Amino acid sequence: MFDLPRIAQLDWLKHIEYHESLDSTNKLAVRLADQLQPVCPALVLTASQTAGRGRGSNSWLATKGALTFSVVYDREAIGLSPQRLPQLSLAAGLAVRQSIARQTQTPCLVKWPNDVLVSEQKICGILTEQHRTATGAMIVVGIGINVNNSLAATPASFRTSATSLYDATGQLFDLTDTLIDTLDQLNASLCLLRDRPREFFAKLNRFSQLNGRDVEIDDGTRTITGRCLGVDEDGRLLLDDAGTHHRVIAGTVVRW
Ligand code: BTN
Repeated sequence: MFDLPRIAQLDWLKHIEYHESLDSTNKLAVRLADQLQPVCPALVLTASQTAGRGRGSNSWLATKGALTFSVVYDREAIGLSPQRLPQLSLAAGLAVRQSIARQTQTPCLVKWPNDVLVSEQKICGILTEQHRTATGAMIVVGIGINVNNSLAATPASFRTSATSLYDATGQLFDLTDTLIDTLDQLNASLCLLRDRPREFFAKLNRFSQLNGRDVEIDDGTRTITGRCLGVDEDGRLLLDDAGTHHRVIAGTVVRW
């Protein structure tokens, strides 16, 4: 199903951990953290993920034709200060956006903090987790993209809020091509975030679904509302609530 030798040609990738079926690529990445640390960045890939993890207590449903993988980084090697590590999700979101836009010529936007949307419907979810090892720490960036799996036959709650590359374009995609392109973009996006953050955030803001919208954010302790002004260079969402400016570090968008 995947052309593993072609994927292995990506020179920055040091190891591929492939399984026909897995419960969750993030879960395996965390379980193998100590073994994977010397061979990072490592890719954990499966053709069939049966119990994907989502943000918070959510699960991630990946039907046949979806792309599910995790990239495992050694925290020290990423070259970002600890307070900037949450920005990795933004970099992954921008990478997936770039890849989808390139492959499909379809407008595609990122929705802070870590969704990617086509026609306002979610096409990709990202779950970034940290894990301590005996000698340091690993960062697992888990990415699920709806590619050749149609959501047409799924319950209405999915169908109306989610889409796939197939649903958006009527075309089928080579999963190896989509994966390689996404991994290329991920590497480029991380380098841009690390080396030229101003440029990174300008680009992110060019493709932000929430900019200019009235939004409501649950930051875990309270609900914050306001007109979205964009994402600042610390990765915080800027909201203008009748002249009062809020900078939200982390949270869930409950209305937009
Ligand atoms: C979300 O939107 O809630 C995040 C979903 C993240 C899903 C991906 S699929 C690959 C990786 N493995 C997992 O178990 N989850 C992530």
